[in-house]
This record gives sequence, structure tokens and C-alpha cells, in this order.
Amino acid sequence: MRIDIVTIFPAIFDALDVSLLGKARRNGIIDLRVKDLRDYTHDRHRTVDDTPYGGGAGMVMRPEPWGEALDDVLGDGDPLVVFPSPAGEVFSQRMARELSAERHIVFGCGRYEGIDQRVLDDTADRARVRLVSLGDYVVNGGEVAAMAMIEAIARLVPGVVGNPLSLVEESHEGGLLEYPSYTKPPVWRGREVPAVLLSGNHAAIARWRRERQLELTRRVRPDLLAGE
Ligand code: ADE
Repeated sequence: MRIDIVTIFPAIFDALDVSLLGKARRNGIIDLRVKDLRDYTHDRHRTVDDTPYGGGAGMVMRPEPWGEALDDVLGDGDPLVVFPSPAGEVFSQRMARELSAERHIVFGCGRYEGIDQRVLDDTADRARVRLVSLGDYVVNGGEVAAMAMIEAIARLVPGVVGNPLSLVEESHEGGLLEYPSYTKPPVWRGREVPAVLLSGNHAAIARWRRERQLELTRRVRPDLLAGE
């Protein structure tokens, strides 16, 4: 999978060099490229923003550098362009799975009060565009949102996570939260591992885990059960 990121803070994405994603990049499974939006400016101050037409607080990102940056990364394939935005559809495990089947995703990370609307309209004329929100809250820019989405998407690409079975039994796969996990020692600070997990009875263990999932989901996220 190829992933391009356009941002004014490329250094934020250095964190994607480590751990499983870093390994997937070195193995060539994920081809991730970070582009500095300021490299597409032509003035001495490398300006990327200006005051909004119609007035109002904050600054808006100018269209010219965005247009040039996107011209550079879109390519001839059929890329999906994701603009992280609190005004977008809410990201989910389902969307992560859907996007993990894409061959090329471009993340356009806006800052300030957003990107000039004409950039979104122009891009939608030549590529598939989605505005995607991390959740119902606001962060300072698209970078942190893109990073979370990239990690959620990339770990579903075959070969990124060593043991694919570990992707099956986790929160939000199957619509429930994950059951609690335990490892050695069997007693720690007087707290015992539930006896059923030491019983070797696989049917009883599966039943216990399913019950914990249902109980936890009912208590913490009843909205997830509402559709059942
Ligand atoms: N930019 C600012 N807030 C955001 C959010 N919640 N999701 C995606 N991008 C954002």
C-alpha cells in the first residue's frame, strides 16, 4: 500500500518509523511518503495561510500550495484522498478495514481553520475524496488524526501484524469490546487470575470470554449493542 501525507509538520510523522509500521516500511509492505506543504510555496516566507474571505477568526490554508502538492502525489492510479476534519464522517474499525484494501491513500492534513474549499472541490474532480473525523472533538490539525487512522489502517494490511489471528479477537472486531487478558504470575499482589483460564477447558474459556465481552460492552458502550 502506498500512503502519501501532505503536512506543514512532517516531523510529527517520524513516529511512524518505529514499531510494526516502521518494520512494514522497511519490508516494503507500506510505502509511506511525507511531503512538506511549504516545499510547494514560492514566496520568501513560505506562506501557506491567509485571512478568511468574509471575515472571522483564524486563518485559512491557501489553495495554491495544496494544488501543487496534490498534483505531485495523486499519480495515475485511483487514489483515495482523505482530508482529516472534525466536519467529516466518523472513523471506525469498519472504515479502517475498508481503507486497508486501498492501493494508494493520500492524507491532506489541514491546520488553522481549514483548507480553502476549492482545494477539496478541485481534488474531488480528479480523485475519490473523503472527509474523515477522528471523533467528536477538535485537535489542532489533521496530523494526529491522520496518524491514528494510518496506524489503524496499516495494521490490517496483510503482513504488517505478524500473527493475523491477533487481529480477530480484539475490540471492535465482531462489534464487541475485548475481554480482559491475564499472563503470569497466577497470583500478583493477592489478585488471582480467574480460575477458568487455568482450567484447560477451552469451551468454558470461550464462554467466559464471551460473557466478559458482553458484560463490558453493555456497561461501557451500550450503543454498540443497540443494533443487535
Ligand atoms: N482536525 C481537527 N480535529 C479533528 C478531528 N476530530 N478529526 C480529524 N481531523 C481533525
